[in-house]
Amino acid sequence: MLDSDLLSAWQRDGFLVLPDFKPPAAQAALRERSLAIAAAHDPGELAAVFSTRDRTRLADRALLDSADQVHCFFEEDAFDAQGRLVVPKAQAINKIGHALHDRDPVFDRYSRDPRLASLACALGLERPLLLQSMLIFKQPRIGGEVVWHQDASFLATEPQSGIGFWFAIEDATLENGCLWVEPGGQRGPLRERYVNRDGRLAMEPLDATPWPDAARTQPLEVAAGTLVLLHGLLPHASGPNRSAQSRLAYTLHAVDGRAAYSPLNWLQRGAGFAPRGFA
Ligand code: FE2
Repeated sequence: MLDSDLLSAWQRDGFLVLPDFKPPAAQAALRERSLAIAAAHDPGELAAVFSTRDRTRLADRALLDSADQVHCFFEEDAFDAQGRLVVPKAQAINKIGHALHDRDPVFDRYSRDPRLASLACALGLERPLLLQSMLIFKQPRIGGEVVWHQDASFLATEPQSGIGFWFAIEDATLENGCLWVEPGGQRGPLRERYVNRDGRLAMEPLDATPWPDAARTQPLEVAAGTLVLLHGLLPHASGPNRSAQSRLAYTLHAVDGRAAYSPLNWLQRGAGFAPRGFA
């Protein structure tokens, strides 16, 4: 599935862009299912505002509980000072996570694609385990930025083994908040780790290497159906959505079952719900 040119590009850059990976019908099915989950969601007391700009809010119980569930997280700007929604609920949800691929049949089908198993194998995951999935809405106008980070900060294994599968469910452009990457940045150190210490979640610094400046980064404007593969150490980010259209993306993260999964990672599967591979 990956020829030697693509494999060397992966080793050099730490990411790969595979256009037309999924047919339009697959994106339509995922989009429809995502909107249905969002519509059925009752914010109630579980309304958890999600923002990577204010990570202390991630300590919300809803995040920990979502490790093996399907939860909706709201945009920070979706509520007024009194906690009332200022946009229709369907446009207020930041993302759905984090066990869509195990709990929802539509996401399960999209995720457990034999071609993804081949890709994971080609990229060195001998025993892939699908830990985490997220449907990111990047809502029109209020869809916030995702700051520079490395996915290995959230899914630490020893040795590092994580790979991200990022699917464009809708076209991603500069205006609506496409991904940005630092080509080759996966050869740098892991800068920080998001850890759970006795129920308190916090980002802890590991290395003072700065995030890349603009000269070293590149936007990935891609069409719906494109798959972007991301090395766990590759610095990446995405801008805010300044357009009138949403920018749906689906991400799936796998680690190698041969590597030791950190007990400090926020995402811990409950007993009897161990992560599975692509089969
Ligand atoms: Fe990421």
